Parts: sequence; C-alpha cells; structure tokens
Amino acid sequence: MSAPKILVFSGSWREGSLNTKLATLAAKRLRAAGGEVRQISLGDYPLPLVDATGFSTTPQVAHDLHAVIDAHDGLYIASPEYNGGYAPALKNALDWASVAKGGPSASGLAGKVVALGGASPGERGAYRGMTQLRTSLELGFGALMVPEMVAIATAHKAFDDAGELVDARNNGFLDKQVARLIKLAALDI
Ligand SMILES: Cc1cc2nc3c(=O)[nH]c(=O)nc-3n(C[C@H](O)[C@H](O)[C@H](O)COP(=O)(O)O)c2cc1C
Repeated sequence: MSAPKILVFSGSWREGSLNTKLATLAAKRLRAAGGEVRQISLGDYPLPLVDATGFSTTPQVAHDLHAVIDAHDGLYIASPEYNGGYAPALKNALDWASVAKGGPSASGLAGKVVALGGASPGERGAYRGMTQLRTSLELGFGALMVPEMVAIATAHKAFDDAGELVDARNNGFLDKQVARLIKLAALDI
C-alpha cells in the first residue's frame, strides 16, 4: 500500500504563530508515522474575501489551492480561535478552494480525511473554535473527520526550542490523532 498523502497547514501565518508551530510538529509526526507529507502556508495563497461572484470569476490562486488540496488524501489543519470561533482567513481559503472545485454543496472536501488541532495562549487551547470548524468541515464540506482534536492550551509555554511539546499528555494526544489520520487517509473513502 502506498503512503497516504497528507497536506498540513495553519490558519495563521504570522511570524511566531503558535498554530504554525503545531502544524509543523504535526507534519513531523505524520512523516514519522509513514505519511507522505507536504506543509504549506496559506499566506502563499493570497485571496480576496469570497462571495458568489467567485463562481464566474475564480482567481487562479483559488484553483492552485484547490489543486494542492485535491492532490492529497488527508489534511491536518491547525486553527487559531478568535472570539470563540475559528480563523476567518482559514474559512476564506477553504471556501475559495470549494468554489474552485465547483460541484454540489457539501462536496468541497468529499473523500478527504481531516484532523484538527488548535493552539492558544488561553486555557481552552482553541477548542471552541475547533468545534465550529469541525461542524463546517463535516456538514458543509463533506469531509470525514478524525475524532480526536488536539487543543494546546497556554500554547506560548507548550513548545520547547526544538518545537516539541513539553507536556506528555499533549504528546500522547497528538500521537494518537496522527496515527488515526494516517490509518483513515490510507482508506478509499
Ligand atoms: C480577534 C482575536 C480574538 C481572539 N479570541 C480568542 C479566543 O476567543 N480564545 C482564545 O483562546 N484566544 C483568542 N485570541 C488569541 C489567539 O488565540 C492568539 O492570538 C493566538 O496566538 C493566535 O494564533 P497564532 O499564534 O497561530 O497566530 C484572539 C486573538 C484575536 C486576534
């Protein structure tokens, strides 16, 4: 069986982003678990705010983003939490990719397996935002979701200088989630 192809990205691409740290570590663990992994920055896919005019005039960047997503079996997304929701820039990018794909609603990520992580300096580790993102990905995009979600609380203290998680429980959650993503992404769903 060939290695499952996993695309990894963060909903934040600012310098020092805690979610990019989590995405980078997830990419490393996914590779170690046998995945063929590519990590991208959504900052390399600059897009205007999406609306329905996008169906008639879709920017090339949206096609590029859809193509890179489509070339993978699974996604690992690390999402910041903003006011209890998830990052609007992330939603914008995913919506554009679905517009570029076309087709019926609830099919933007059909056939893809998605795992979610989130990192925040707060106590809940972006968990509230992830629950909303999860609902949208499942019901709106038609993705198959990995049950485990990794929420890194007090994330500004959660990583060491090598980018590894210092807390054993966080490490355990991430490993369990990564193993499940690899297993599910290898299936023909
Ligand atoms: C507009 C805004 C709203 C925020 N709301 C929340 C929130 O509801 N919960 C939370 O834990 N952190 C919140 N934060 C803090 C972010 O979690 C923090 O800035 C985090 O570092 C962003 O992710 P990043 O490091 O990957 O860029 C908010 C930040 C911004 C800019």
